[in-house]
Amino acid sequence: MSIVYHESTGTFHLYNQYISYIMMITENSQPGQLYCGKRIHDKEDFSYLFELAERPMASCVFERDKVYSMASIRQEYPAYGNGDYRHPAVEILQQNGSRISEFRYEGYQISPGKPKLPGLPALYTEDDAEAQTLTLTMRDALTGIRMELFYTIFEKGGLLARSVRFINEGAEAVHLTRAMSLCLDLPDSEYDWIQFSGTWSRERTPRVRRLEHGIQAVDSMRGNSSHEQNPFVILKRPTADEFQGEVFGFSFIYSGNFQIQAEVDAYRVTRLLVGLHPERFDWKLDVGETFQTPEAVMVYSDRGMNDMSQTFHTFYQKRLARGYWRDRVRPILINNWEATYYDFDEDKLAVIASKAKECGVELFVLDDGWFGARRDDHAGLGDWVAAKELLPNGITGVADRIESLGMKFGLWIEPEMVNADSDLYRAHPDWVLSVPGRSMTHGRYQYVLDFSRKEVVDHIYGMIARILREAKVSYIKWDMNRCITECFSRAYPADRQGEIFHRYILGVYDLYERLTTAFPEVLFESCASGGARFDPGMLYYAPQCWTSDDSDAIERLKIQYGTSMCYPVSSMGAHVSVVPNHQVHRMTPLHTRANVACFGTFGYELDLNRLPEEEIAQVKGQIAFMKTWRHLLQFGIFYRLKSPFEGNEAAWMVVSPDRKTAIVGWYRILNTVNNSFSRVRLVGLNPDYCYHNSVSGVDAYGDELMYLGMQTTDESAGVRSEDTDLLRSMDFDSRIYVLTAAEE
Ligand code: DGJ
Repeated sequence: MSIVYHESTGTFHLYNQYISYIMMITENSQPGQLYCGKRIHDKEDFSYLFELAERPMASCVFERDKVYSMASIRQEYPAYGNGDYRHPAVEILQQNGSRISEFRYEGYQISPGKPKLPGLPALYTEDDAEAQTLTLTMRDALTGIRMELFYTIFEKGGLLARSVRFINEGAEAVHLTRAMSLCLDLPDSEYDWIQFSGTWSRERTPRVRRLEHGIQAVDSMRGNSSHEQNPFVILKRPTADEFQGEVFGFSFIYSGNFQIQAEVDAYRVTRLLVGLHPERFDWKLDVGETFQTPEAVMVYSDRGMNDMSQTFHTFYQKRLARGYWRDRVRPILINNWEATYYDFDEDKLAVIASKAKECGVELFVLDDGWFGARRDDHAGLGDWVAAKELLPNGITGVADRIESLGMKFGLWIEPEMVNADSDLYRAHPDWVLSVPGRSMTHGRYQYVLDFSRKEVVDHIYGMIARILREAKVSYIKWDMNRCITECFSRAYPADRQGEIFHRYILGVYDLYERLTTAFPEVLFESCASGGARFDPGMLYYAPQCWTSDDSDAIERLKIQYGTSMCYPVSSMGAHVSVVPNHQVHRMTPLHTRANVACFGTFGYELDLNRLPEEEIAQVKGQIAFMKTWRHLLQFGIFYRLKSPFEGNEAAWMVVSPDRKTAIVGWYRILNTVNNSFSRVRLVGLNPDYCYHNSVSGVDAYGDELMYLGMQTTDESAGVRSEDTDLLRSMDFDSRIYVLTAAEE
């Protein structure tokens, strides 16, 4: 890994064994983008890549020159208003009403490691030798705004992290109305754009389209990263697929309003922008103040989407997630939500927990409804004190009781919210985001606390920290069940109201930081009505996230498949729930529910007392299996093999780093009769190892399994077996194959 500066040509080359990123300081002191892609040789001069041509209608920079126009330059961080009519990366509103700025390059610094971003989640290094950071400094002379562009390249992985810092060294306040974290001008537009879209319970479905002239974008203006779009986009060459071809992944480490946009201009140059959504964003930067953008991450691979995903998985697992739980297998949990909803008391919980303990479950999670007047979703949010009529001995009592069964205890909270029917709201009606004199929109009968205010965050911290100090709580599920409306804070003046969406998220991060620092061994799982905040920002604080409120195994196949494009298995909360399923009313076999959930953090969301004995025996087997294999399942190298979006079958697998063990999950949605023989081609194995197949008993070399495939033929093709379990076939069927290499 290296960051090289060639002084004679003003060229910067950031490279490691996978990628090269090349920029050049151009004639008008702007960093121009020359190349981003597969690693190439370093040399002094790449200026031939700086392409200019005389274009009709161009607005030009230099007198007596009709060629040099900002519209044709591929730039690193374009500003508004100087002849580039594409969307800019930065726009600054000044006291005289002008939005024009002219940033000029001043200098650079190359430093080992990676600086922290204060108050924001970001990738980190454990050792300075892992990465190098280039800082380009630019200044707008008239306003005195200094801008620092940060680029971090890591030794391992085709990944670049970028962010920008603004410092007002001028004489008057300005307003940042656009401050993107990453701009990448690519020389052509021969790409498929893949976004991950959905809604509640249908999160992160890949949607593909060819890039076209004009703008294509995904965004959120809901105050969370949203169910509807994810802050993650792929650009891939049309011929690239899961296993080969050029792919870029762009991810934004942030949990609020965002925008990822591709603009293809008339000459088919593509400008990719990632950052805070410029709509509703207006940050007043007073003299002497600093503004740091969140971080954007770009991954390049010439080996297809699986390889790109694996780079994200490794970094988000090891260099974004932090703390005690980062590298630890996750406890197998039981959550009472779908088992009881609001209808529970301590005795009922203890009965559910006892049966779970008997089956081998390690953690009992008490979900919504344990506090204040929360008997349904109309009341109680904000009052984080146990309801005595349900839990006579408080959280301490129920936690002790669960611990006495030999399990850990976990608790649900929704700290950012308040019901109007709550003591907190009665005491502090002004702590809610709302406009004085106007009506307030509710979502699920609740309102959003003004987390841009420190005293609000302090108050909530006090209540939650007290519980964690007093009771034996090992796990917290942090929920967020509505989007933000009436985004107005009574604590800020008129000219700072455009800051509130972002300040809110900074408040959320602050509370997370304080709680995770004070209680480092508590496992946090983030949640926002399922997956409305399944984003990298959350993973910095909570290494796992409730993937979706849809717990149906077949729906989950799709949701987890789409989620895996960016996020690791260890981050996906996945549970076995009852049938008929509560969301889609589908009947699926218990083994398939577990076979999907085991490619996640794994748990149960039902009352095991209601299962017949034969199913309890199955559950015990599933838990024993998970305990044996969870390290590999959660931390192995994950490959997508067959997409549930494309056919009747889906398959994925994990492989151990030494390639001696692999687990394949194979799923078939509807059964057929008189079926064809079937195989799945595996990947990532060692061709020279001979693997034993736990289902068929067949020993086969890695080359056989990868090049001619692993057989999945069963009863549907008319094959009979004494052992019906082995080759059974039914609707919503699935099988887990464990492959172990024979000792040499
Ligand atoms: C939404 C979550 O996604 C569910 O798992 C559950 O915790 C409910 N909220 C509780 O209100």
